[in-house]
Amino acid sequence: MSHAAVIGTGVIGAGWVARLLANGHKVIAWDPGADAERKLRESIDTAWPALEKVGLAANASKDNLHFASTLAEACEGAFFIQENAPERQAMKVDLLAEISRAAPEDALIGSSTSGFKPSVLQQKMTAPQRFVVSHPFNPVYLLPLVEVVGGEQTSNATIERAMAFFKDIGMHPLHVRNEIDGHLSDRLLEAVWREILHLVNDGVATTGELDQAITYGPGLRWAFMGTNLTYHLAGGETGMRHMLEQFGPALKLPWTKLEAPELNDQLIDRMVEGTQEQAGDHSIRELESLRDNCLVRIMEALSEFEVGAGKVLAEHRARHQVEPAQ
Ligand SMILES: NC(=O)c1ccc[n+]([C@@H]2O[C@H](COP(=O)([O-])OP(=O)(O)OC[C@H]3O[C@@H](n4cnc5c(N)ncnc54)[C@H](O)[C@@H]3O)[C@@H](O)[C@H]2O)c1
Repeated sequence: MSHAAVIGTGVIGAGWVARLLANGHKVIAWDPGADAERKLRESIDTAWPALEKVGLAANASKDNLHFASTLAEACEGAFFIQENAPERQAMKVDLLAEISRAAPEDALIGSSTSGFKPSVLQQKMTAPQRFVVSHPFNPVYLLPLVEVVGGEQTSNATIERAMAFFKDIGMHPLHVRNEIDGHLSDRLLEAVWREILHLVNDGVATTGELDQAITYGPGLRWAFMGTNLTYHLAGGETGMRHMLEQFGPALKLPWTKLEAPELNDQLIDRMVEGTQEQAGDHSIRELESLRDNCLVRIMEALSEFEVGAGKVLAEHRARHQVEPAQ
């Protein structure tokens, strides 16, 4: 059986490895960082209990992971290669060129980039028609969304192949039809993030207060409806039209700033100290497990109503006959 290759195994690369292993694939990973293999295997151990609750493929095993000593060793013979190196454009352009030379001619090659356009990333690749941006969300092994973006040189067949493959490993591939900086989701998230930085910078609220402003209200709705359909309901019987009439004038008020504030030392300290206080005595690993347990239960609740990530979960379980561990 051919294998999947994962290049760069930090937060996101490790998440891809976990998802691929849980779906029964063999994975060869490579990362030049110090102690990278130990960190990767620890991340897989943290992810595995949640993946068991979601349901593992019959042949899924953590033992199907091999850590390669070179990039070429990982890419050779792979049917799918996902690049997850740090978000630096020049580095990714050269790395993807190297991957393209080491990979089989017919391999599907993806990049997790949060913001760069595929046309830029594929410029030095050999056979660039097999490249897509495949932008996932953390934790990659649980959240189904992956934005699939083709560049000027990407073939339609590659887009179709990527959409089918990501669906097969339990994801919801969203084809981003026009390449723009930040794709779709990060454009939305970045707007909220910039506003958070302003509110902390101006001393209006703490990081903890701003997180409450999301988790106790809008965050609950976002899991299954998104902003547009939610606002349609906010308009009462006449929906979006009434909502726009009522709140349209507010668009002229100075409610948002959008241009980010200067990231100076004081702001960095406030963000770091604020989130450390929120985390309390809990380690990152403990918080990851808490997050994973909550996500699995939310998706299971949503599957009953066949909406959002719950619909993806239910269809995936039915298609591959995977059963959640009791
Ligand atoms: N963190 C997120 O929430 C998130 C979400 C979606 C997409 N992304 C994207 O995923 C990519 C990786 O982000 P991350 O958060 O996992 O970063 P990270 O810092 O956790 O991991 C990056 C890894 O790349 C390795 N690396 C360094 N140089 C490399 C090279 N030349 N070749 C291969 N690997 C190399 C590092 O050793 C490290 O393990 C970025 O493009 C980022 O924009 C991140």
